Amino acid sequence: MPFQWGVATAAYQIEGAVDEDGRGPSTWDVFAHTPGRVRDGHTGDVACDHYHRWAEDVGLLGALGVDAYRFSVAWPRVQPSGTGAANPAGLDFYDRLVDGLLGKDIAPVVTLYHWDLPQPLEDAGGWMNRDTAARFADYAALVADRLGDRVDAWITLNEPVVVMAYGYALGMYAPGRTLMMDALPTAHHQLLGHGLATGVLRERGAARIGLANHYSPALPADASSAGAAEAFDVFMNRLFTDPVLTGSYPDVPGLDDVVRADDLAVIAAPLDFLGVNYYQPTWLTSPGPGSPLPFDMVDAPGHDVTGTGWPIVPDQLTALLVGLRARYGAALPPLVVTENGAAFPDEPDASGVVPDTDRIAFLASHIAAVQDAMDAGADVRGYFVWSLLDNFEWATGYHARFGLVHVDYATQRRTPKRSFTWYRDLISRSRA
Ligand code: NOJ
Repeated sequence: MPFQWGVATAAYQIEGAVDEDGRGPSTWDVFAHTPGRVRDGHTGDVACDHYHRWAEDVGLLGALGVDAYRFSVAWPRVQPSGTGAANPAGLDFYDRLVDGLLGKDIAPVVTLYHWDLPQPLEDAGGWMNRDTAARFADYAALVADRLGDRVDAWITLNEPVVVMAYGYALGMYAPGRTLMMDALPTAHHQLLGHGLATGVLRERGAARIGLANHYSPALPADASSAGAAEAFDVFMNRLFTDPVLTGSYPDVPGLDDVVRADDLAVIAAPLDFLGVNYYQPTWLTSPGPGSPLPFDMVDAPGHDVTGTGWPIVPDQLTALLVGLRARYGAALPPLVVTENGAAFPDEPDASGVVPDTDRIAFLASHIAAVQDAMDAGADVRGYFVWSLLDNFEWATGYHARFGLVHVDYATQRRTPKRSFTWYRDLISRSRA
């Protein structure tokens, strides 16, 4: 399979049209409409209005010249209450989108779950409830039956660690629960959903299947913090990789009561690729007395940061890609960098240009880091920039602009940034 250049988005972050064509409410609709949850009360109600402007956005993808476009299907469009028959109008939207992409020779890469759980499933316990895994497999079947003949690659889950940690443990993201270490069952139930959905997709002859994990290399902040870094690595990185690739969990407390006999065999179904979302490493110290977590996160000294304050450390992407191979050996499938990018406070200048040189520098250094990893033997088959468009950045609302394309939310006007032209030229040079 040749190396794919791509860009990525997710349904709730760009689509808007939350009440149209039979879509039901998701956890993110409810969360964003709860005062105090999202900065300035922003919601995804309109977002980039991609639901209506998808053809214009496919035109942008064509102009960019990407090989592949990673987008997510909104579960609540397909099954408004999370169970039962498909809502045909919901599937119609993605059917049109897929055909639009293929018309421009762009491979559709479909994420099935990018955090917008149908609210009725959350009301029944959400990912704390084992039944949600089976519901996810049902939903995967509906999407595969409609789109499977044209999808190039499937990503079952996006960043299950963030759903567990931010959504169920710390309450910063939907559904806003603060279960702390008691959120661990959500890891297992998501992974079980991944395994069951993988089986369903395989039965239907899916082209390629993977999942997209968030990886944050764990770095000890000082000589006495190796244990804290190790604990973070186990909970945030290995918990979502070991069972999928090796069929066993790392040593974490609290899973014995939720893991049943055959679950790990389901979860470890062979994959065609492992998606790697990388933004930044995390520096750790030992937790203070009474801390509910086995580590404390601390700011990193001495690194430039993005507009969201995230340290810019491209060589940790090299270390991550090479390190996965070292840890998992022959069990590691080919890698795809399914997300990488940065937010900066971009606005058009007087001549209408968005001169985002800081994003160009970020992307250039990280693409070079991927090349370094490949030179060192990592089998990397693709790189997807997050994101095509500025969009709804979860609890940060519209305050973080990650796009290669600037969006004026008042008018929905799209303006390709300098980074768009830069990425377009890089892709076209790589084909020369
Ligand atoms: C990871 C998530 O998958 C995506 O939804 C988010 O916008 C980016 N990271 C940036 O935070």
